[in-house]
Amino acid sequence: MELQGKTAIVTGSARGIGEGIAVCLAREGAKVVINSRKEQDCQETVERIRAAGGTAIAIAADVAKEDQVTAMVAETVRQFGRVDILVNNAGIESPPTLLKDISEEVWDRVMSVNVKGVFFCCKAVIPQMMAQGKGKIINVSSVAGVRMTFFGGANYTASKYAVTGLTNHLAWELADSHINVNTIAPGAVLTPLAEQNTTQEYRDMTTKRLIPLGRWCTIEDLGNAAVFFASDRSDMITGQTLAVDGGALTGFGEDLRPVIRQRMADMQAAHDKH
Ligand SMILES: NC(=O)c1ccc[n+]([C@@H]2O[C@H](COP(=O)([O-])OP(=O)(O)OC[C@H]3O[C@@H](n4cnc5c(N)ncnc54)[C@H](O)[C@@H]3O)[C@@H](O)[C@H]2O)c1
Repeated sequence: MELQGKTAIVTGSARGIGEGIAVCLAREGAKVVINSRKEQDCQETVERIRAAGGTAIAIAADVAKEDQVTAMVAETVRQFGRVDILVNNAGIESPPTLLKDISEEVWDRVMSVNVKGVFFCCKAVIPQMMAQGKGKIINVSSVAGVRMTFFGGANYTASKYAVTGLTNHLAWELADSHINVNTIAPGAVLTPLAEQNTTQEYRDMTTKRLIPLGRWCTIEDLGNAAVFFASDRSDMITGQTLAVDGGALTGFGEDLRPVIRQRMADMQAAHDKH
């Protein structure tokens, strides 16, 4: 139980990656705030954590609305007395549209949740963490924030690069307050929504082409990384991006492995001959 006595807010944790992160933090003893825009959407995750013996409450807030974020943090402090961990997970994708076809409205919507939401949540928890003398902020970006992704449009990629920039700047700005700021960059994650929106054939094809470790990530894979950044084990790590992507950022999927190995064997054989 590495997070006993700590309180965590995980934004967008009613389902998907946020749910996986919240469940893993609660398993390690953290009291967890489950957040989404609507309180009723959070209940299933809250019940799941409670049924496993953990502590969780639901607080509705739209991360893109500053007054709602401020109220969420105040309510967390009222109920749990502190905020030790903030996971900025809430994020939205827009369909993988070509830039020339992206409307200003869609651009603004993605930026307001993915970037302004992180800004508001950090701004709201920082004074509390400073008063406590320590804190951990974990931003959920994407491999789109390290390279790019064809799962979303250029607007999504730009929003996730902004999250990486916020992480790096804040890591420096908050270092003397002992607040660590790091990013988790997921690759393809098999959330219920992703499962709904893709076929097995598509997932097999993307795995072969893109993921050397041979499968899509589970939400628990992301939860495990969040536990590390939330715990004292990462006290000397700040401003870092950890890709949880099965090796996708290496750029070579598993179906290239036999080709490359054969090439290496041929080269070795040619070398041995001379
Ligand atoms: N699923 C993937 O393969 C993948 C890959 C890379 C990065 N990500 C990132 O991980 C994060 C979570 O993705 P997911 O796939 O679990 O998404 P999801 O859509 O399954 O879940 C997101 C949750 O956030 C909530 N949410 C959305 N907008 C919100 C807002 N304005 N305020 C509060 N809550 C809000 C939703 O209601 C939902 O509960 C996002 O930041 C996403 O960009 C996902």
